[in-house]
Amino acid sequence: MMRLLSPCLEINERGRLAISGCDAVELAGQYGTPLYVMSEDEVRRVCKSYVQSFQKFYGGHGRPIYASKAFSCKEIYRIVVSEGLDVEVVSGGELYTALQAGVLPQHIHFQGNNKSAGEIAFAVENGVGDIVVDSFSELRLVERIAEGNNAVVNISLRIKPGIDAHTHDFIRTGQIDSKFGIDLASGEALEAVRQSLSLEHVSLKGLHCHIGSQIFEVEPFVHAAEVMLELFGQIKSQFGVELEHLNLGGGFGVRYTQRDDALPYERYMEAVSQMVHKKCKDLGLDQPEIYIEPGRSVVAEAGITLYTVGAIKEIPGVRNYVSIDGGMFENPRYALYQADYTCLLANKANAPADYIATVAGKCCESGDLIQEHTPIQRPEEGDILAVLTTGAYNYSMASNYNRNPRPACVMVSQGESRIIIKGETYEDLVRNDV
Ligand code: LLP
Repeated sequence: MMRLLSPCLEINERGRLAISGCDAVELAGQYGTPLYVMSEDEVRRVCKSYVQSFQKFYGGHGRPIYASKAFSCKEIYRIVVSEGLDVEVVSGGELYTALQAGVLPQHIHFQGNNKSAGEIAFAVENGVGDIVVDSFSELRLVERIAEGNNAVVNISLRIKPGIDAHTHDFIRTGQIDSKFGIDLASGEALEAVRQSLSLEHVSLKGLHCHIGSQIFEVEPFVHAAEVMLELFGQIKSQFGVELEHLNLGGGFGVRYTQRDDALPYERYMEAVSQMVHKKCKDLGLDQPEIYIEPGRSVVAEAGITLYTVGAIKEIPGVRNYVSIDGGMFENPRYALYQADYTCLLANKANAPADYIATVAGKCCESGDLIQEHTPIQRPEEGDILAVLTTGAYNYSMASNYNRNPRPACVMVSQGESRIIIKGETYEDLVRNDV
């Protein structure tokens, strides 16, 4: 029997895939397919483990921040905030959603490499607690907008620490050749600190870095903490200022397939905290508040997507296309990154996965695939195909390509299910057409 990837998944007594006590085939029948399903229990379990790690390794002197680009809707903000996390947003739209969900502005961190004046004004007017400034031009813009609002705005600076973590090129961000952040090695970072300290309407509270995403090694995170704290030391000696917080970003790897060797998150926390304690001692620094900013690891393994199998085309000596009623419009990650996924037939979850399938979407495009040459149970039209670990960067990256409506999202917990995002209708698709 295959090993399921997340603790919220099991094969029930009917031999079917179940998520947090809900039978996946019944969910598909009740809500229709394609359908995103998200386990509240699993999201809360991960949030708790992060919060507990901060207690254990930093005496609670710090906090996890949920990077909501992974999955943004009102209910997820309510859930993570109720577990004691802050939230990170990267656009006016995510900020608006978080505020609508009732997140207190002081718990919001606003990232992004090219925030518009309108977005910054929106954040300043709403009293967002931390604007993470990404460039010199943004620093000037924030100062100008804060001045216009008669406000002093808390900021941090996003620094490029020059660390090259092993992951897909498009999701690496900490190296020098990156559109994100202010460069450390060339001295730009210290210059940005100098300028920030001289401005009247911004108050520099901390520094931020993020080295990439879907990273399995501990070492790059430890190294980032070391490099960033050395910068804290330089800031103290040059400007006589000790900053209040250090945000070490997100990027912790999750299991898409059994080959992914994801570490328990506590291991990153432990290793990084050892470096933080050591460096602060060596440099005579008060330990700043430590933030981390996980997105994927909070929601990815909590989510699955359910589809109905349609046409099956077996091309001898070539491949077997198994078509589903979704595709790159609700999960573009294979088309974009050749991302690995585990697929199975939810209604035959106990049967051997001895059929090699290419799972194809319904978009008019050959590259519209969910997975190639992947083992699943022997498929028939009408089967319910589940793709695992789709809680992150699926709904949030979905589109209306080919005017397909985005599917609904159902939240499950202890055998109960509820809609948290309604499926789009054809009416929704023409709403803004003139
Ligand atoms: N903080 C910052 C500043 C980030 O840029 C990101 C991700 C995170 C936190 C959260 O990283 P996570 O814990 O989720 O790895 N669309 C891609 C992932 C892009 C990640 C971008 N930044 C994907 O589907 O794999």
